[in-house]
Amino acid sequence: MITPDADWWRDAVVYQVYPRAFADTTGDGVGDLGGVRSRLPYLAALGVDAVWLSPFYPSALADGGYDVDDYCAVDPALGSLDDVDGILRDAHALGMRVIVDIVPNHSSDRHAWFRAALAAGPGSPERARYVFRQGRGEAGALPPNGWTSLFGGSAWHPVGDGTWYLHLFAPEQPDFDWSNPEVREMFHDVLRFWADRGVDGFRVDVAHGLAKDLSDPLPGSSSLSMGPVGSMDAAPPPRRADGTDPLFDRDEVHEIFAGWRRVLDEYDPPRSAVAEAWVPAHRRALYARPTELGQAFEFPLLESPWCAAAFAEAIRENLTLAASVGSSSTWVLSNHDVIRHTTRYGLPPGADAVAWLMSDGGDPREDRDRGLRRARAATQLILALPGSTYLYQGEELGLPEVPDIPRSALQDPIWVRSSGSRKGRDGSRVPLPWTSTGPRFGFGPERDGSATPLPQPSWFGTLSVEAQTDDPTSTIEFYRSALTERRRRFERAAMCSIVEHGEDVLEVRRSDGVRSLTNFGDVPVPLRLAPGEVVGLSSDPSAPIPGDRAPMLPGETTAWLFDNGAGVTHTYAADPQK
Ligand code: BGC
Repeated sequence: MITPDADWWRDAVVYQVYPRAFADTTGDGVGDLGGVRSRLPYLAALGVDAVWLSPFYPSALADGGYDVDDYCAVDPALGSLDDVDGILRDAHALGMRVIVDIVPNHSSDRHAWFRAALAAGPGSPERARYVFRQGRGEAGALPPNGWTSLFGGSAWHPVGDGTWYLHLFAPEQPDFDWSNPEVREMFHDVLRFWADRGVDGFRVDVAHGLAKDLSDPLPGSSSLSMGPVGSMDAAPPPRRADGTDPLFDRDEVHEIFAGWRRVLDEYDPPRSAVAEAWVPAHRRALYARPTELGQAFEFPLLESPWCAAAFAEAIRENLTLAASVGSSSTWVLSNHDVIRHTTRYGLPPGADAVAWLMSDGGDPREDRDRGLRRARAATQLILALPGSTYLYQGEELGLPEVPDIPRSALQDPIWVRSSGSRKGRDGSRVPLPWTSTGPRFGFGPERDGSATPLPQPSWFGTLSVEAQTDDPTSTIEFYRSALTERRRRFERAAMCSIVEHGEDVLEVRRSDGVRSLTNFGDVPVPLRLAPGEVVGLSSDPSAPIPGDRAPMLPGETTAWLFDNGAGVTHTYAADPQK
């Protein structure tokens, strides 16, 4: 059972479920809410505190469900509102909270409001809920300006009467006009609709995109941006980082979220929210103010190369910024928009991950063992940090990206809109393997012998939940142990200092007595334990060995050191001399 706790989100481990790829109960090859519900005991046993459900709303799937037809309904292919209620009931009974995804920048072009806007014609109040503009040139044959969409191509779509509508993403995702009070009211009602049902919090999609200044002629200010993680920065950072960019991170957006906070605070306990805002660091904390959403995703760590100094810098910055507004940090290494971190860390330094995807994973060569070793070390490191951690489904299995999905099966709009020059994000959205063998590796029954829409590779079974469960060296057991220890030993209000030892070793020194040491190098370093300190969990199951008084920390490994009960004096970190 969950216990009343207004601050649960501050240090929660949140597991992101991408419902269509999680578990399927009907055999149509698409994951559904029944599948989510049936696996809640698995998530509880894994040890997570909350589940974040990516969109399950009715959708034509022009953008994986982030094109929403109706914000207060469930896609019939995924289930019904009863299933959501069932998930809420079961999750709460199992002690987990539930967060849902809200997509406020745009609806789908099948949303009732957008259909009404098309039918009502230029100048109507229905059109004023979206961003329609007269085209340039004769009969408005040219787009209003040269803005390009994040997925490629023009950000404007003509509707045949000389006017065009704005879509920062796919043409099937028309942008709302947030200066219209009706739009604001509608989303307040959407928040209440889900909060009334018992939803505990919200993940706010493209939070930095809502306010726009259409009078600003900044040319081409939005364009597809491929970050160093090789997939998509869900939105590029604004060109102007002072709140005056025409499309992103405008100052007016904060007034919108202050309104949301008032709605979230109507509830007891207040509902939580986390902003997805790809903005420069100094602007991010604004979204996380207690008077707004309360928390914001911090992506710099996700974009950091495997390097102690880069991690240290990102961590320090995140901690400082979150503390500056009374929020807590958010640690993320994978999600449905980026190449899975096991693969990122397994590619050679500086590798162009987009080109790697386009080569079907052939060039350069991915070192999967190394990638997994580093991924486990990085996960254990972020779990040692104060704040909340967001895990993405399948990372507990150490799943790598699937780079060789047949081109004919790709679904991401990035693939089509980039004219086949970028594959996009499907490689992280392949249905999960639950069993080692059998139909669809346990993802769901096989109704007609066909593959799932994004086919699972033949090697998926070896990484399945079944294959890994009870193997003490497996990644899933490592996650279970890490989450158990985190719950048992870490105090919510703990502070920490980040200490670098030489080039390769990073220490997280927590005020609750736990130390975490990560060796980013290849060469083992000696660990000298402080009096009263014992080796606890390690991301390398074979070393260092608990109980060893002169342990070594292997390369690319994180170890947690615990107080054995006698009281620790922190006098030592990993040997900087190696
Ligand atoms: C989501 C993406 C989506 C985009 C447009 C992002 O924040 O995470 O998956 O394509 O928003 O809705």
